[in-house]
Amino acid sequence: MAFSQGHLLGLEGLSREEILYLIDTAASFKEISQRDIKKVPTLRGKTVVSLFYEASTRTRTSFEIAAKRLSADFVSIASSSSSAVKGETLLDTARNIQAMRPDCLVLRHAAAGAPHFLARRIDCPVVNAGDGAHEHPTQALLDLLTIRDRVGRLDDLTVAIVGDILHSRVTRSNVHALRALGARVRLVGPPTLLPPEAAAWWEVGHDLRAGIRGADVVMTLRIQRERQGRNYFPSLDEYARYFCLTRDALAEAKPGVVVLHPGPINRGIEIASDVADGADSLIMDQVTNGVAVRMAVLFLLVNRARASGEAESLAESAPLRRKAG
Ligand code: CP
Repeated sequence: MAFSQGHLLGLEGLSREEILYLIDTAASFKEISQRDIKKVPTLRGKTVVSLFYEASTRTRTSFEIAAKRLSADFVSIASSSSSAVKGETLLDTARNIQAMRPDCLVLRHAAAGAPHFLARRIDCPVVNAGDGAHEHPTQALLDLLTIRDRVGRLDDLTVAIVGDILHSRVTRSNVHALRALGARVRLVGPPTLLPPEAAAWWEVGHDLRAGIRGADVVMTLRIQRERQGRNYFPSLDEYARYFCLTRDALAEAKPGVVVLHPGPINRGIEIASDVADGADSLIMDQVTNGVAVRMAVLFLLVNRARASGEAESLAESAPLRRKAG
């Protein structure tokens, strides 16, 4: 099994095998970040450009670290300091970047579908680093890798996702992946923050304790004020009273439960500090695994020809190794 997609635009439509292949490839890259010299020559001579039209700490930085650990050159463009502020369109910006012959474009944009739009118009692989409230595929992949590392499996899991489901691209990518992997998912939040289609995806609930009861994994989400054009609840205090993941509420989950949050976290709003920093929290592991996932994605997309060549040469050398042995 190999990953034969030309872009990574989302997890919707990917097979269980493709998702597991991405996670397994990421797992194999983790060891590089534990070395004293954290660099391999895999993407030497390749250029990765990141184009971010929204703020980011984790995603942008980990793509840069991932590219550099693979020896690629990395160029980072933030829309706030690019010619986008002079009125240049996304497509014109991307065409100008393409004219400099990058090997991969990583895009974060507030508009759902922006990476798909570019993927049809430029001739290098495009990675979706978050498009509006649509998808954030590398975040879901790192979530799954983190769960598997700690829980030991991705089969037969009950996962509760709590909070601002309506605006959450992380939820959508996780829903697609967890569905492909056969997990049970509960979506929990105030009715105003659950999209009408959520009930068709999975079990939906509005009570935090009932929603996380017996769960193996609880994923809490930030309230995305920047995407909310109106008030979805009376106040943050009111929201926290009903939906903040406290230690007391977490006791409803299965013993050994793990807690995830894509970040950035709002302490005391969607998650209590002692839960965020507690032994059940995998929030920092998620960030660590983000580098390995992005190394895997860049490797598989940028170096596809070389990757399949390496697989072939390994296969070809197997009989020689057997003979030598
Ligand atoms: N999880 C996530 O996407 O974080 P950033 O917005 O900091 O990249």
